[in-house]
Amino acid sequence: MSQEIWTSRPADLYGRRKHDRFFNMLWGAVTVFGGISGLSRWKPSRVAPVSRTISAVVTKREMLTPDVVALTLADPDGGLLPSWTPGGHIDVQLPSGRRRQYSLCGVPGRRTDYRIAVRRLDDGGGGSVEMHESYAVGDTLVFEGPRNAFYLGTDEGDVLFVIGGIGVTPMLPMLREAAQRGINWRAVYAGRSRTDMPLLDEVLAVDPDRVTVWADDEQGRFAGTDELLAGAGPDTAVYVCGPTAMLESVRITRDQHAENKKAPLHYERFSPPPVVDGVPFELELARSRRLLLIPADRSALDVMLDVDPTTACSCRQGFCGTCKVKVVSGDVDRRGRTAEGDGEMLVCVSRATGGRIVIDA
Ligand code: FES
Repeated sequence: MSQEIWTSRPADLYGRRKHDRFFNMLWGAVTVFGGISGLSRWKPSRVAPVSRTISAVVTKREMLTPDVVALTLADPDGGLLPSWTPGGHIDVQLPSGRRRQYSLCGVPGRRTDYRIAVRRLDDGGGGSVEMHESYAVGDTLVFEGPRNAFYLGTDEGDVLFVIGGIGVTPMLPMLREAAQRGINWRAVYAGRSRTDMPLLDEVLAVDPDRVTVWADDEQGRFAGTDELLAGAGPDTAVYVCGPTAMLESVRITRDQHAENKKAPLHYERFSPPPVVDGVPFELELARSRRLLLIPADRSALDVMLDVDPTTACSCRQGFCGTCKVKVVSGDVDRRGRTAEGDGEMLVCVSRATGGRIVIDA
């Protein structure tokens, strides 16, 4: 196992990056067997880029847990913000130039204000720390969107929501929508402890009889996939949102049983997907005159961020278009979910099949 796998791994089930044994084993397995995801019946939807830029004012700031801050945003002139649907998110343009995506977690469809929530990761890429430290009530926050790549299907009859930690943010509006639509839904919400689970009171308020809370400190261990998927039958649509390890374990478990293959599985990641079927290649940055070696198990963007932490990126999953660059020469294995034309490359997911790619960067 190369060192890059460990240094590039995502936060654990609940957003932590500490090196506990269980997570080490799970992430190692996910990385080694990452090819399984390519066999999944589920394919992510393509997402249309949204270009409108909006300046909002922060009207409320509250700590939901010791490390999760919620910001309420409104139009500075008291107007309505753009319409949105549960599962939608905005792309925040941070003062440093970083861009980060945050799910809208307020009342579904509410346009007088938006609410987002951010878990602070001191050893992350710096975006969450900047979110925590840059915005006070009265400050301006600039964003693009909203857009939605993770919406509740129109014909769902039986739904299980699997929630891990800060993964609650897109899920809470979806639970509310499911309740409004009369869907037969259940939710499993897992976290370190109840005090570390943001918006738990609001999740329970939707319908406490339909929500199972798994707090590690009460149970003495992490929830396994048996607990996360309890009661999910072959016709149950499963929606999961949380860190990569939770998502992959649910996906792999659901795909193991042939009878589940007709039921939809929907997910939203908080961290980049593992590289599948990658080969090493060279990436030449023409303007900055750098030559980077991209290992088989890392994205071009990861390596670019190592040398320049301000490299433009947002979703890191190939759908927002922020990291798109012009290709000067070389063959690109395009893996993006948004438009990626000839002569373009989304460096967060696309790569070369070998050799060298020269980009205008
Ligand atoms: S960072 Fe969003 S497409 Fe690459």
